[in-house]
Amino acid sequence: MSKLYVSPITGKKLNKKDNYYISENGSEKFPIINSIPRFCKIVNYTESFGYQWNKFDRTQLDSTNFINFSEERFYKSTKWEPKIISNENILEVGSGAGRFTEVFLKTTTGILHSIDYSNAVEANYRNTIKYKNRLELSQASIYEMPFLDNSFDKVFCFGVLQHTPSFERSLESLIKKTRIGGQIVIDFYPIKGWYTKFHAKYILRPITKKLNHRLLYKLINMNINWMIILFDLLCSINLKILTRFIPIVDLYLFPKDLTKSQRKKWAIMDTFDMFSPEFDNPMRINKVKKLFIKMGCKVTFAGFIKNEQNCSGAVVRAIKL
Ligand SMILES: C[S@@+](CC[C@H](N)C(=O)[O-])C[C@H]1O[C@@H](n2cnc3c(N)ncnc32)[C@H](O)[C@@H]1O
Repeated sequence: MSKLYVSPITGKKLNKKDNYYISENGSEKFPIINSIPRFCKIVNYTESFGYQWNKFDRTQLDSTNFINFSEERFYKSTKWEPKIISNENILEVGSGAGRFTEVFLKTTTGILHSIDYSNAVEANYRNTIKYKNRLELSQASIYEMPFLDNSFDKVFCFGVLQHTPSFERSLESLIKKTRIGGQIVIDFYPIKGWYTKFHAKYILRPITKKLNHRLLYKLINMNINWMIILFDLLCSINLKILTRFIPIVDLYLFPKDLTKSQRKKWAIMDTFDMFSPEFDNPMRINKVKKLFIKMGCKVTFAGFIKNEQNCSGAVVRAIKL
């Protein structure tokens, strides 16, 4: 079903003409800008991600860091087989700079449909240019995707749902695009207990998310060195619990193999990532499981998945019935 875009509003078939995707009667028209079809407002609530992923476009790619951190996360979370997904219709929602897009394209021979609501699609496009014949990348929202319902064998959405205005509506959209019997795999920020939001991130976000992106980036950059030193010090004296009050990302979630300078770059990027997004709504794993069931799916896994670096992510896998 490669290149079969439909209008995200009316569901009408679209054809490519010059620099547009146009409906047959010409009433709907979506521009192709810098080789990427755009099915949404170019500027929207995900602007901070566009800034972040274009500034740090290659920072988290496995191919940049010579590690297989994203590959491991992808296959441990999905349990998919490269040979099987090479011959299926797969959709990625919220690809950012394309760390998982790259994993899919590198480890399979299949075609991937991928969307992101932000201008991060430009970073993804640059990062995966060598696979361009197998990637159908567009800018679109999870709520208005340019695909027919029930059209994908498998859908994955990593690190995205907590950043959308409604976790529940977003899940509904993913399920809608999956065929009956198809699979959906998501990972997201979990609520682990009352203390989850008792963290510098949630205390400061009401202010930081309103700051100009350049200013926020500058502030993080200016303060990152002392924050890393203090964070590591607290961990080394068994006071890891106090690190939640330092306004920096949880550094122990990073791959252990990063060099000092890579670690610093990841820290700047992920600290920006935690303070800048418009939405940050973590969810209880059990609640997500119940939502899938309510929406007509069978949940095959709901829990934490540990990777070799010892960090764990909240993952739910489901089948559309
Ligand atoms: C934390 S990033 C994760 C990117 C990538 N999946 C990764 O793990 O590196 C979250 C992404 O979700 C995208 N996003 C947020 N709301 C969205 C929506 N309504 N539709 C599609 N993508 C959305 C953002 O633009 C951003 O690139």
